[in-house]
Amino acid sequence: MEKVQFTEEKATMLATLYGRALDSRLDDPVLGDHAADEAVKRIDYDFARLGITRDSAASVVLRAIPIDEWAAEFLRAHPDAIVLHLGCGMDTRFQRLAPPPTVHWYDIDYPEVVELRRKLFPPADNHTDLGTSVTDFAWLDQVPSDRPALIVAEGLTMYLKPDEGTELVRRLVAKFPSGELICDLFSRLAIKAQKINVVVRRAGATLHWGVDDPRELERYGLTLVSSVDAAHWAAPDVLARLKPLPRFQLRALKFVPPLARMARIVRYRF
Ligand SMILES: C[S@@+](CC[C@H](N)C(=O)[O-])C[C@H]1O[C@@H](n2cnc3c(N)ncnc32)[C@H](O)[C@@H]1O
Repeated sequence: MEKVQFTEEKATMLATLYGRALDSRLDDPVLGDHAADEAVKRIDYDFARLGITRDSAASVVLRAIPIDEWAAEFLRAHPDAIVLHLGCGMDTRFQRLAPPPTVHWYDIDYPEVVELRRKLFPPADNHTDLGTSVTDFAWLDQVPSDRPALIVAEGLTMYLKPDEGTELVRRLVAKFPSGELICDLFSRLAIKAQKINVVVRRAGATLHWGVDDPRELERYGLTLVSSVDAAHWAAPDVLARLKPLPRFQLRALKFVPPLARMARIVRYRF
């Protein structure tokens, strides 16, 4: 068992990991990320204290599904890609997508987080962990710049200061010949109302960067391809498989656009 003592934004990745593990324990899981549950079993931590329950876990797994699908689509079209998985936490996306050996995948998070990843997940020839803050930009020198890049940042942008976030985007776009950025964005309302976010509150984390209109990021060299608010993350077949409470909450969210738009997943090209 690995004993961990993460605080603030580093602790939030234990909540998202636990959310995927809880889903995988259902008879009819939505994401079915059994590697997440294996990881949870090897971490000595009181996961329940972060406030994620079987029902609230739905938002975590629903966000992951379209991100996985978009990422898989990019990798099918670009088998020579490099992947930068920023703020990866304990996410097992590398295992879920199982990219071909021609893709090189970088999982990037703070050094303590990456140290835990190395204990939990087996190494692979086409995989590198980088332990650094994504905003200490020297790490960018460690990745090749001559291949199409898929950049995935799930649950990261809101923890960055706005000027750090936009500088990161600017540098990523400048580095690669082409690529896609897939991430989630919180609205300014979500940043203002952060005390209602149980995981953020219990982890003692602070949210900083809110984006109301995803086109705001186009001024840094991106072109928006898709934007989906939280009420529309679940395809109808997935929605039908949710437990009654999260299914009801998602249906209700469609009638309150400012709440639905508090979280979006977005896909940009550059
Ligand atoms: C909500 S968790 C999401 C983790 C993972 N993407 C997932 O969906 O399970 C936020 C993650 O962002 C990481 N993070 C926040 N700020 C960061 C920074 N400046 N540099 C690197 N990682 C950062 C945290 O350590 C944490 O692992």
